[in-house]
Amino acid sequence: QILRSVQSAARKSNYTRNYASAASPERKVTILGAAGGIGQSLSMLMKLNPLVSTLSLYDLAGTPGVAADVSHINTRAQVFGYAEDKELGKALEGSDVVIIPAGVPRKPGMTRDDLFNINAGIVKNLCKSVAQYCPNALVNMISNPVNSTVPIASEVFKKAGTYDPKRLFGVTTLDVVRAKTFYATKAGLPVEAVNVPVVGGHAGITILPLFSQAHPQANLSNADIEYLTKRTQDGGTEVVLAKAGKGSATLSMAYAGAIFADACLKGLNGVPDVVECSYVASTVTDLPFFASKVRLGKNGVEEIYGLGTLSEYEQEGLENLKAELKSSIDKGIEFANKE
Ligand code: NAI
Repeated sequence: QILRSVQSAARKSNYTRNYASAASPERKVTILGAAGGIGQSLSMLMKLNPLVSTLSLYDLAGTPGVAADVSHINTRAQVFGYAEDKELGKALEGSDVVIIPAGVPRKPGMTRDDLFNINAGIVKNLCKSVAQYCPNALVNMISNPVNSTVPIASEVFKKAGTYDPKRLFGVTTLDVVRAKTFYATKAGLPVEAVNVPVVGGHAGITILPLFSQAHPQANLSNADIEYLTKRTQDGGTEVVLAKAGKGSATLSMAYAGAIFADACLKGLNGVPDVVECSYVASTVTDLPFFASKVRLGKNGVEEIYGLGTLSEYEQEGLENLKAELKSSIDKGIEFANKE
């Protein structure tokens, strides 16, 4: 998708420069944490997206440099860099989509929940400003632990009187990206043709890939499915270990974040049938937040799809993840309401 967007942007800038911006509505995308590992690559990918007219980059420091650098790319988006608290309002004002990769990443031996103490406070504060300056924006939460940061954001928005469950998303796209790659490799299929829904949450066993619903269907053994499930669940840890103390997934995450933001923009622009998996307020299970396939539209979430028929193994995985996911949700809600 990104490659196609990039090629289409390149075509437009070469041949129809004057029409490129007239073709789709003005859209402002803001990235909070834009000078970080994910933030920088994501800034570049969003600059390449022809649906973006204004790209607003915010971080505590370093964003003027990232913005100056990215702004020289000859694509549609006008780029602005903002640093420090006092510029956060300006960065957010008028945003259609706010992407939040602000916060610390894991080091070897850490779980996503170990990040809670630092990232929960960062997300809480940033969301207060989102409620104040762009209450109608679609919020794409990347900061971990996503299972808790999304409930935190919802509570902050509720308190501010701006909460719209259709506009708040936990970005779980990287789990889908990984599941597709690992499945295609194992099954010997062309990866571009593969789709795999991933449901549940975004940490360890709460990540539940549904290989029984993968397209196209390959004849894999139970042992293969178990291996693929575990590899998808541990994909983040695989990168953390390989980076050996230098952070977690940034490049593949930026790609996944760009795919999801692009889907949000397409939905806002009225493109039909835009479907991605995301961690949202949900009634699909008895948990208040759950990741599953959602259809994106002009108001954010237009439809949340049910889980469909699960294999016995997936059904078991679903039952096993509920306790952990519930406790992460409760932890987030409790934190947000503690003043
Ligand atoms: P990083 O440390 O390279 O970058 C984080 C950036 O956030 C830094 O530039 C920092 O200055 C900034 N930041 C911190 N507090 C801020 C604040 N109050 N306002 C604005 N910016 C602030 O970390 P990286 O690798 O980019 O990861 C960011 C987050 O994304 C982590 O929490 C990580 O766990 C999460 N992540 C999520 C994934 C997902 O699938 N949802 C996958 C990979 C990482």
